[in-house]
Amino acid sequence: MTRRNGSVENASALGDAFSARAGVFSDKALLDVGYVPGSERIVARNEEIRRLATALNPAVEGEAPSNAFLYGKTGTGKSLCARYATRRIVEASAETGVDVGRVVVDCSQDDTETRAVRATVRGLNDPAVTGIAVPETGLGRSRYYDLLWEVLDARFDVAFVVLDEVDCLDGTDFLMQLSRAAEAKKLDRCSVGVVGVSNKVRYRDRLEERVKSSLQEREIVFTPYDREALSEILRSRLAAFDDGALEADVVVECASLAAEEHGDARKAINLLRHSGELAASEGADRIAVDHVRRAKSVAERDRMRELIDGGTIQQKATLLAITSLALVEKTRTFKTSEVYAAYEDICAESGLETLSKRRVHDLLREWEFLDVLEITRTGGGRARGSYLQHHLLEDPSVIRSAFDGSERFAGVGFTAGSTTTTWSNI
Ligand SMILES: Nc1ncnc2c1ncn2[C@@H]1O[C@H](COP(=O)(O)OP(=O)(O)O)[C@@H](O)[C@H]1O
Ligand SMILES: [Mg+2]
Repeated sequence: MTRRNGSVENASALGDAFSARAGVFSDKALLDVGYVPGSERIVARNEEIRRLATALNPAVEGEAPSNAFLYGKTGTGKSLCARYATRRIVEASAETGVDVGRVVVDCSQDDTETRAVRATVRGLNDPAVTGIAVPETGLGRSRYYDLLWEVLDARFDVAFVVLDEVDCLDGTDFLMQLSRAAEAKKLDRCSVGVVGVSNKVRYRDRLEERVKSSLQEREIVFTPYDREALSEILRSRLAAFDDGALEADVVVECASLAAEEHGDARKAINLLRHSGELAASEGADRIAVDHVRRAKSVAERDRMRELIDGGTIQQKATLLAITSLALVEKTRTFKTSEVYAAYEDICAESGLETLSKRRVHDLLREWEFLDVLEITRTGGGRARGSYLQHHLLEDPSVIRSAFDGSERFAGVGFTAGSTTTTWSNI
């Protein structure tokens, strides 16, 4: 084949890839993580939204709302419902003539007290209305607080501060300041409603009594979605695809796979999108169940690979230890002593220095932080005889495949019962 012919052929083969509606998608934005569906597309959360509305509703009449705390695992619709409910109150208050404001602070980004106060005041301020300038840098924390109280009184009767991922915030001083603002006479006119959102169900235990009592919080726990709810969430976004682009059972397959994990709507939506991308990349004009299954393996392996690449060699060894146990045993749950023994074997096999139990425990905690495993104490609370259980959340064969190609650990830790999967054709 001549070079000229080759390039002509390439150009025509690539033609589709750059057209706006290549493949199976018609409006892909509906599958974006940040997309906020309207109420008609919020599925299976009526009870949670109703309870949230009860807490926040006094604002519509200009009265102080209750604070609310939303807990639950990732992808259970907490951020969505917090945004939706507060936005609805702001809209409803336009009709009653009450000035209600609202800001959403992502505490995983603004994770110190100063940053969080600054994000709050900047989000609520409108210099054209208040005449107050809030600089992005250069002020100390207490100055930002002063500006916050000023802005709140200048603009609003009631303001909602949604603290999303509030467990990422270092310390609880900001919560304290917000909840005590009225009592401490920082505010004359405005009342503040705090909506805390946390993926860590145990975050509440971290709050000191005085914070808890001053928040008078209403707790709303978001339970994982089941297969039916996930199917419905996906179905409400099918406008993302061309007509007839989905084979029967594709939605149910995505929903079932996500339900098997922890009922995470984000995972279900991403899986549907990745399946569509995989089908489109293969030139298919329909998504089949097989695309879904392969998309899931690829997504999981890629995520694991990223996590593993980000770890130190010792961190990798600890993960390999529990993974190799899970591949050999019939369970995914192990005691500290079992994980440590497997870790020692791996160090011996790969010529790695063996760290102390304490250090290995710290490294395992980091995997827990990344949701790769879960560590719980069993055997009678803090009483003598209690011990730690390490439960691997990820599929060990996926972790194992993510270790493929890792020179340091080639062949280490997977001596029994492991199979190698080939991914090159995906
Ligand atoms: N009940 C629901 N109806 C429709 N979409 C939902 C629902 N719950 C979650 N989603 C979607 O799933 C994704 C994750 O939800 P999110 O609110 O961010 O979860 P969380 O904050 O609990 O981690 C978002 O794209 C969101 O729009
Ligand atoms: Mg969230």
